[in-house]
Amino acid sequence: AQYEHYGRVGDIKEDFDIISYEDSKGELYSSFKHASHAMLFARNDTVLWDLYKSRAAIMMQMRFDGLLGFPGGLVDPGENPLDGVNRELEEEIGLDLCKHKLQNSDQVVSFVNKSKNLVLHFYGKEVTVNDFSEIEMKTLSAPDYGNETLGMIRPPLYTMGDGYRGLPAFLSNSYAGNSRQELLIGLQHFKILEQDEIEKTRR
Ligand code: GTP
Ligand code: MN
Ligand code: MN
Ligand code: MN
Ligand code: MN
Ligand code: MN
Repeated sequence: AQYEHYGRVGDIKEDFDIISYEDSKGELYSSFKHASHAMLFARNDTVLWDLYKSRAAIMMQMRFDGLLGFPGGLVDPGENPLDGVNRELEEEIGLDLCKHKLQNSDQVVSFVNKSKNLVLHFYGKEVTVNDFSEIEMKTLSAPDYGNETLGMIRPPLYTMGDGYRGLPAFLSNSYAGNSRQELLIGLQHFKILEQDEIEKTRR
């Protein structure tokens, strides 16, 4: 519930409600489509141009449809949401599952969109700066690179002097599902930004 307001862009509430992971497994949602996406990130203390705290490298992507989002995708028949996110990360970013497989404890938040019959699960996992770079390099040879996935990007997490460039400008892009909300939740959940820094980015 504390995250609910991140779904608001201007005064328009996006059509996603937060549900517990336990509830999402219930009978009511068994006929819904489920999808799982993940935020891989590495904390990074460097200061850019003696001015802006870098804070973290976060992996997002430009998708085939021109929208930004996290790597991940639809949970296939016979899979649970965790199996689904691990398979999709292998397909979309070439993640080495021997080293970086996500666990159930990496689940951060889940959402339901009742009008779209859709349940969305969001995972997050911290890796080292070196592992992040290695993972990022490998994305260029991932099976789905060049068709589903058009490039990994790191969101800027600082706000520049004009109050717009940086994270606020990044947040003004178009996003798949509620990945914009997920980014803000991830920043809060993993304490990558302070609460007041996140609030300031609200339009
Ligand atoms: P195919 O393999 O081509 O079927 O695609 P996919 O399985 O990778 O599915 P996709 O990643 O497009 O995600 C499926 C659903 O989740 C769609 O309804 C998207 O709008 C939504 N979606 C896509 N990216 C994200 C994201 O980062 N977060 C959330 N919450 N939803 C997303
Ligand atoms: Mn330059
Ligand atoms: Mn996919
Ligand atoms: Mn996908
Ligand atoms: Mn898929
Ligand atoms: Mn696919």
